[in-house]
Amino acid sequence: RDTKVIAPRLLDWYDRHARVLPWRMPPGGGKADPYRVWLSEVMLQQTTVAAVKAYFERFTTLWPTVQDLAAAPDAQVMAEWAGLGYYARARNLLACARAVAAAGGFPETREGLQALPGIGAYTSAAIAAIAHDAPETVVDGNVERVVARLFAVETPLPGAKPELVALAETLTPRSRPGDYAQAMMDLGATICTPRSPACGICPLIHDCDARAQGIAASLPRKAPK
Ligand code: ADE
Repeated sequence: RDTKVIAPRLLDWYDRHARVLPWRMPPGGGKADPYRVWLSEVMLQQTTVAAVKAYFERFTTLWPTVQDLAAAPDAQVMAEWAGLGYYARARNLLACARAVAAAGGFPETREGLQALPGIGAYTSAAIAAIAHDAPETVVDGNVERVVARLFAVETPLPGAKPELVALAETLTPRSRPGDYAQAMMDLGATICTPRSPACGICPLIHDCDARAQGIAASLPRKAPK
């Protein structure tokens, strides 16, 4: 089957249905600011989009650049973080801001990004794709679910993870990889949902093996604990 059509189809859907989020450029609207991408992605780890919006607006109003955040007093940053939870993230956030400010800006490569405090495989891929438009594959829980369904992967998580990453990599386009990464997340959050996926309005309905087999809602499988 033709996996090349999946990214263009998804991008066409994203151009019409992208969620409007404060850290996003309009679809096709150019590269985003790496500081805003980094800050949003760190906040979005373990916290919902709905909860992050107000914190993101407050942080970027108080500290519009990474230099501003780097110069902020620890206690003020920790106080503004209150409510987001996982306070180690806030301490890493400040350490990262100070390292980036000292270096004169965010690194462009995934390796350079991953050398920074609090930046792992997921965040480095997200910044490279969304801010630098590099053809990196961004895999979070939403993307795992979409890919498991597209390819009808019945291997249970977490064991299926390497297989899902490899399959996700086959779909990443050279054109607009940042919009594509965010389109996958939006599809997973709004249509290809964990329960009762809205296959009837999915732009990838004809590309989805799980849909064809009638097993979309049961994927991804999870290993019993
Ligand atoms: N979840 C994590 N990062 C996201 C993003 N950039 N857009 C939508 N949902 C997300």
